[in-house]
Amino acid sequence: MKIESLRTHLLFWLLAPLAGVVLVNVFSSYLAASNTADMVTDRTLLASATTIAEEISVIDGVIDVQIPPAAIEMFNTGHGDLVFYSVRTRNGQLLAGYPDVPAPNPHEPGAHPVFYEGAYRQRPLHLVALTHPIIGAPEESPVTVLIGQTLNSHDELIIDLLRGSIEQQVILLAVAAALVLIGFSRGLAPLMRLRDAVLDDKRDALAPLPTTSVQTELRPLVEALNEYKRRVRAQMDAQRRFIANAAHQIKTPLTLLMTQAAFAERAKAAGERKEALSALQNSARQFAHMVNQLLTLSRAEPGARRPRHERVDLAETARLVLEEFSGVALSREIDLGFEQAEEKTIIVGDETMLREMIVNLVDNALRYTPVGGSVLVSIGRQAEMCVLTVADNGPGIPPDETPRVFERFYRVLANGGEGSGLGLAIVREVVAAAEGQVTLRPPPTGHGLIVEVRIPGPVEENSGG
Ligand SMILES: Nc1ncnc2c1ncn2[C@@H]1O[C@H](COP(=O)(O)OP(=O)(O)O)[C@@H](O)[C@H]1O
Ligand SMILES: [Mg+2]
Repeated sequence: MKIESLRTHLLFWLLAPLAGVVLVNVFSSYLAASNTADMVTDRTLLASATTIAEEISVIDGVIDVQIPPAAIEMFNTGHGDLVFYSVRTRNGQLLAGYPDVPAPNPHEPGAHPVFYEGAYRQRPLHLVALTHPIIGAPEESPVTVLIGQTLNSHDELIIDLLRGSIEQQVILLAVAAALVLIGFSRGLAPLMRLRDAVLDDKRDALAPLPTTSVQTELRPLVEALNEYKRRVRAQMDAQRRFIANAAHQIKTPLTLLMTQAAFAERAKAAGERKEALSALQNSARQFAHMVNQLLTLSRAEPGARRPRHERVDLAETARLVLEEFSGVALSREIDLGFEQAEEKTIIVGDETMLREMIVNLVDNALRYTPVGGSVLVSIGRQAEMCVLTVADNGPGIPPDETPRVFERFYRVLANGGEGSGLGLAIVREVVAAAEGQVTLRPPPTGHGLIVEVRIPGPVEENSGG
């Protein structure tokens, strides 16, 4: 069963078991009432039978049975019960009463009265059989008195007893429900206050909620909510900074483009104009590259794309990227090498983004390494990690700038080259999305840079992923 309201839910789980308990209680009350009614009936029956038996006498050798009126009147409780009796000698001769009052089955006359149930003229009865010796009539003695009563007063007694008990239980249940409801309203009040605080549109939506007046059970929830707000705020701040930064970064090349265009327009000589236009083209290309990097970065951000879990062969991807860059390497006379120390290089991730990551690392290595240098891309494995390293013997990055180069738009100016400062920011996002780590360090020779990316893997060639 699905219950929407917490209040109803609590109420249900408190009152349903309570109602169960009440039911059990009513049933046991019924059993007790029934026992009591049986006992009262049996006592009256026995008293009546004893009264009849004690009045039996022997007159002139003949048994004389007089039914005393009191013996019958004691059954008169106003419920219209019928009473049937019989008095018989030992050998079955009917001395008084109705001939076919049922006898207990089996009936061995004894010293103790026998209480039993039976039916007479289609009416259910409670009966007693009492065996009584008669002094002076040894042959016929003892005589047996059977007396039975219909169940009206017996049943009325049960109902009376039960009614009181049921009334009590129902009142108890109603009082419990009322108390529980009052208790809930009071107990849930802090929760309602919290809800109001969350919904209050006069508050700053990202301001933390107060935790002091909150019950201990709710505090973790409020703290989690506050932590969540803090993260959202941090992310929004970062986003705002990024947009401001990006707008600023876009303005600079645009201004440059406009200046160059004006310059080309004013140029008189054909040679001068050609030079100006090719500068313009170059700036436009860089600008386009930067916009592309911005797009890539926004796609690499958490939540920007649906998380992809493709099977990506890291070595194969790296090889393809290197092929693309072979022309650049050739033109800069850089020895671009590839080394694969591990056969299994399949990881799970977003193929497009992992490729962008390698592109940016190789691009950096080729861009900042001077002519005639060397760049080595290698793939290996350490424990449960696939390791991709891009090593070069260029200028490297000064240790105090290492943490900053992953920031957006941050560039190490001393290293020259053209760029947007977004490449390593993209790398960081992609690696984070793949749950890996990226580190920068100088090679043992001290000259150059090693970028090491570690990503969980490899996975089995044919396992699902
Ligand atoms: N392999 C490298 N060798 C030396 N410096 C590097 C290398 N890779 C990156 N850098 C430095 O880190 C800075 C940030 O790199 P990146 O985020 O890719 O931006 P961009 O390359 O567009 O400038 C670069 O400006 C560069 O100075
Ligand atoms: Mg770069």
